[in-house]
Amino acid sequence: PNYEHILTESHDKVGLITLNRPKTFNALSSDLFHEINDALKKFENDSSIGAIVITGNERAFSAGADIKEMLNQTFANSYKTNFLFHWGEINNIKKPVIAAVNGFALGGGCELAMSCDVIYAGETAKFGQPEIKLGLIPGAGGTQRLTRVIGKSKAMELVLSGRTFTAQEAEQWGLVSKVFPVGEVLEKAIELGQEFAGFSQPVIQAAKESVNSAYELSLREGCHFERRIFQALFSLNDAKEGKDAFANKREAKWTHD
Ligand code: HXC
Repeated sequence: PNYEHILTESHDKVGLITLNRPKTFNALSSDLFHEINDALKKFENDSSIGAIVITGNERAFSAGADIKEMLNQTFANSYKTNFLFHWGEINNIKKPVIAAVNGFALGGGCELAMSCDVIYAGETAKFGQPEIKLGLIPGAGGTQRLTRVIGKSKAMELVLSGRTFTAQEAEQWGLVSKVFPVGEVLEKAIELGQEFAGFSQPVIQAAKESVNSAYELSLREGCHFERRIFQALFSLNDAKEGKDAFANKREAKWTHD
């Protein structure tokens, strides 16, 4: 497809989306975000793709929403058009989405990374929710996702000061799962995606759905939900195949059904 602000390619079962507005540190204009959503949907509907990686460049994953685009925004207009609603579409993607973050991940950029299922970061990556400095607050889940992951005191400190935090801090707090040298992050993210893509797609989707339900449900409801999905998986050929392969000491051949 012909995109203006992103590049897409596939790497053996992994769809890669590269944010490509380098002059503005990959500021997330509406046009850019619509392209991300379109690319996500295309990879979601492509049965040869088992996981998706989103990345930027070495200077920036993304510096957030396009501030210039918001200069003349009004309450009435943003309310009428449900401004930023389309930022939530990534949460409906069933395949695993991995963020490979180098450089700045600020504001909406940090929120986009947090909307992914796994974050890998480069050693010099800088995260933050600086909206307070613009007279705004995070608007795409920042106050919610950051708080759930790193806790209230740290989230308050960061959101109310707009201070940035490092890749190492993010890893220590559990926001980022691993930190790599700058030049290796993308490769490692793609390898992780390929590992996910090597398993049964419906089972991977069930695992993702079940982990995500931990954010929505009480422990009792979450465990109930997990058990029901677990039970349902016995209806899949891939669950029969996986158990049979183990019992017969051979490698499983997934048919994704
Ligand atoms: C629009 C941006 C931008 C942004 C940078 N640019 N970030 N344009 N929206 N978010 C543009 C600058 O205007 C400038 O354009 C060019 O990119 C280079 O930026 P500089 O500031 O000159 O570079 P530098 O001094 O190296 O600083 C880099 C930076 C800084 C630390 C990333 O640009 C910065 O702080 N950006 C804003 C970060 C931010 O506040 N993000 C939150 C946005 S609000 P020109 O034309 O002058 O060369 C948000 C709300 C989320 O995300 C709500 C839900 C979506």
